[in-house]
Amino acid sequence: MPVTGTGCDPPSTPVPFGAAGRANSEVEWDGFDPQSYVRKNYAALRPDDRQLLCGIRDFFAAAGLDEARCVDVGSGANLYPVLSLLPFARSIDLCDLSRSNLAWLRRQITGYDPIWDPYWRVCAELPAYAAVTDPRARLAQAGRALEISVFDLPRRMWDAGTMFFVACSISDDPVEAERATSRFLGALRPGSPFGAAFMLGSGGYRVGQRWFPAGRLERADVAASIAAGGYELAFRELRPVPPLRDEHLTMLLVTGRSRG
Ligand SMILES: C[S@@+](CC[C@H](N)C(=O)[O-])C[C@H]1O[C@@H](n2cnc3c(N)ncnc32)[C@H](O)[C@@H]1O
Repeated sequence: MPVTGTGCDPPSTPVPFGAAGRANSEVEWDGFDPQSYVRKNYAALRPDDRQLLCGIRDFFAAAGLDEARCVDVGSGANLYPVLSLLPFARSIDLCDLSRSNLAWLRRQITGYDPIWDPYWRVCAELPAYAAVTDPRARLAQAGRALEISVFDLPRRMWDAGTMFFVACSISDDPVEAERATSRFLGALRPGSPFGAAFMLGSGGYRVGQRWFPAGRLERADVAASIAAGGYELAFRELRPVPPLRDEHLTMLLVTGRSRG
């Protein structure tokens, strides 16, 4: 996951755009710079992202999925949640509302950049992934970028899903984080396997010259909203390695199945 935390950077930098107290609808998401975000967070595979990727890889490989309709919510400029779904997907919808991120996603779906090859090599340590001999072609065939807000997702549409560093990082309001988690789980059919990652303790993050809000979530907040919409839950919390600037930040991966 994200170098400086999935984009969920610490709030140690002064907020440059008067960002305090912003709701999701008040943020200029089209100003999100995907190149900057990737450079900062994913250009080199970090040990913490490797751990998160192994977590969802192992989970989806054991989930009994085949020819599934998959969704990744708030894909932004991160492909590894999508790669973890690839062998099991008939289709993958990569959802975001930022036009800059959607343009980036459409280019990556056509033929993703070499920086994602190390992430795929981690996946391909398992036979189910190694059997996909051309992951670029598979993503080009199965992937589709969709302009949609997490708050407008249709109900019970997909068979499996991922949502990485979204609920924690789209507004200052913890109520919106809870709603985002609930909408994500509600978009999956009952019993669908999912993986979701959260940056805990973040008060915002910088992408290029812009500052984006985060809801300063705690583990108990996430556990409550996930338990309302999921079961067979497993929680893995880890400290970023190398540490982010704010030593208090941790990453939380939750896997489970949706109640639908
Ligand atoms: C911190 S980034 C996370 C990106 C990526 N999933 C990752 O793991 O690094 C937050 C993402 O949420 C997207 N976003 C913000 N508000 C959203 C909304 N209402 N619905 C869907 N996506 C949203 C942003 O455009 C951005 O791509």
